[in-house]
Amino acid sequence: MKLSDRTEQLINADLEYVIHPAGLVGQPDLNRVLEKAYGIYVEDTEGKRYIDLSSQLMCVNLGHGQKKIQDAVKEAIDKTDYTTTYWGLSNPYNIECAQKLAKITPGNLNHFYFTCGGGESVDAAIKVARMYWHYQGRSEKRKIISLYNAYHGTTGIAVSATTFGSGMFHVAIEPVTPGFLHIAPPYCYRCFHNLTYPGCDVACARYLEKVITSEGAASIAGFIAEGIQGAGGVIDPPPEWWPLIRKICTDHEVILLEDEVMSGFARTGKMFAIEHYDVIPDVMIMAKGISNAALPFGAVALSDEIYAVLKGKMFGHGTTYAGHPVCSAASVAALELYEELNVVENANKVGKHIRERLDNEFSPLPCVGDIGGKGMFQGIEIVANKDTKQPPSKVFLEKLRYDLWDKGIVLREAGLLMNRLVVAPPCTMTIDEADKALDIVYSVMAGLHLE
Ligand SMILES: Cc1ncc(COP(=O)(O)O)c(C=O)c1O
Repeated sequence: MKLSDRTEQLINADLEYVIHPAGLVGQPDLNRVLEKAYGIYVEDTEGKRYIDLSSQLMCVNLGHGQKKIQDAVKEAIDKTDYTTTYWGLSNPYNIECAQKLAKITPGNLNHFYFTCGGGESVDAAIKVARMYWHYQGRSEKRKIISLYNAYHGTTGIAVSATTFGSGMFHVAIEPVTPGFLHIAPPYCYRCFHNLTYPGCDVACARYLEKVITSEGAASIAGFIAEGIQGAGGVIDPPPEWWPLIRKICTDHEVILLEDEVMSGFARTGKMFAIEHYDVIPDVMIMAKGISNAALPFGAVALSDEIYAVLKGKMFGHGTTYAGHPVCSAASVAALELYEELNVVENANKVGKHIRERLDNEFSPLPCVGDIGGKGMFQGIEIVANKDTKQPPSKVFLEKLRYDLWDKGIVLREAGLLMNRLVVAPPCTMTIDEADKALDIVYSVMAGLHLE
């Protein structure tokens, strides 16, 4: 397709001057420049629009261009461009944001440290776990356990907890922060222990206890996991998994850090994914949907117990933009919208509809091996052979991706083998809109021939 001169120039300038995250340096991928975003759509410089079945990076949970958030940002920046939250200073937006979050987070997660995103929140949360032990005279409790196939960001400490990507975030930058251990994820379709649920007795969760006791609980500060692994391909744990993990952490005095960066804010049909499992973590990590991604923002929620230990002690961590007033104002407006628009309810209803269609229509396709997820957070595993579960070739997956974009659908592959499509549209999407998008995805997938 012939591109306009403007788009050509933009793409060429991009190639020369811009380095993209998690991509090949200086090599084009999708060759598209997006300049508009509204509702469930994004639009490129050619005027072609796409249904955003990914909510970009699963972060625009309220849909694009929410006026209430735009107005809140404009109003806030007219009053104050920036004031610091260092020196014990504060700003009204940040305080309001913390109060609102305390109302919607489960249990007694009532105290908040603010950041500019997910990785930063994970870094801060891991420091909180270590501070908690340090201030009780137990500084030897330092190690952190995370899952394989986990994505917790690429910042300084978070990257050590991130195991997703077969080393792509580690090999070129080693050494990463030491003191991290990993266990198998609850990925039943490709069980790391070669077992089958439920006969496995959730061995993957029980293995956490073996690691803690083998290492010595006296050396373990915390365990971190996503509510539902997202970049890992939407790996929805069996119902017993989270309660077992919670129990093991409590029994061995290990802080349970739960990462809701992608699974939070209505994505799964509950405000937070962990609510599906009736578990309350000690520390909860948030970003993305917290501000609908309109401005960079994130938070770490601490339980009353953790806070009680830290109270009066030095919080030896901070960044210039922690608790930024304008980002906080965006978040306050987003949090209000979740309530006003009944977004959790919609995600539940539309998510169920999407899942029914995936199970009934997509699952029988020769290239679909597995479907998993909750609400508007579903993964479709693409395979070359349903019996052997062999993943398809890179060429097949690339063709699928390009065909979807050509047909006006934003949908990216993720997962351990990068062969799971993540269906995660804005949680405000209607059933009619979801049907329209799924019809297109189905026609593309049904039309592809496995080599
Ligand atoms: C679960 C989870 N944690 C942390 C992060 C990192 O967030 P950020 O990219 O804002 O640093 C992500 C990003 O996708 C994520 O999915």
